[in-house]
Amino acid sequence: MNPGRFITFEGIDGSGKSTQARLLAGHLRGQGVDVVLTREPGGSAGAEEIRQLLLTGDTDRWSAETEILLFTAARRDHLEKTILPALSLGQTVVSDRFADSTRVYQGATRGDLRAKVDTLHALMIGREPDLTFIIDMDPATALGRGLARKSGEDRFEDFGLPFQETLRHGFLALARADAQRCIVIDGNRTVDQIASDVAAHL
Ligand code: ADP
Ligand code: TYD
Repeated sequence: MNPGRFITFEGIDGSGKSTQARLLAGHLRGQGVDVVLTREPGGSAGAEEIRQLLLTGDTDRWSAETEILLFTAARRDHLEKTILPALSLGQTVVSDRFADSTRVYQGATRGDLRAKVDTLHALMIGREPDLTFIIDMDPATALGRGLARKSGEDRFEDFGLPFQETLRHGFLALARADAQRCIVIDGNRTVDQIASDVAAHL
């Protein structure tokens, strides 16, 4: 059996990743593809528990260094319990965020920690998606949308607009550095326009 494809969505908070991941999963299922739709942090029972620790509380609850360890621990469990088993069954995995989020949120916002992120990734994860859609959009609009949800998981939104602007540049730099894997999608459009664009690229 052929291993399945591993597709991720990345971008700043509120950019429309979850919406587009869900729509892509539906589109592929409509074509008869067996899809596992998942997310980070989370996507397995243990990783969902770690998610609560990371996304609630004050901005200074964890340092960026501690976050690297917690996100990587959650990712390792997600990989072992959900992603790798699905790929080995030939299923297509669509994940709302993966390692690029750690590279940008922890690696390039509160000091240059990218080398530490990369070392831990190589040691504990060692897997990249086959294809990554980076949804790029205006950070002020995205932040407004994200906070309007009142999800109670706003720890990273609470770092404010300049933080989101830094993240946007981080994701675009990542896309330039790995243009084979990453496709930048203009998120300043309607949900349907973006979904058609994603499907066309696929
Ligand atoms: P993310 O997963 O990136 O945080 P979501 O998909 O949860 O983003 O979208 C954040 C909010 O914005 C949701 O309320 C969603 O319905 C809305 N939304 C998503 N995409 C668009 C779009 N293209 N235009 C307007 N609103 C959108
Ligand atoms: P998510 O639920 O996708 O948030 P949003 O819907 O606002 O985009 O992700 C939770 C938060 O965790 C988000 O603010 C980004 C952050 N995060 C990191 O900082 N590092 C990571 O490695 C991951 C996966 C997420």
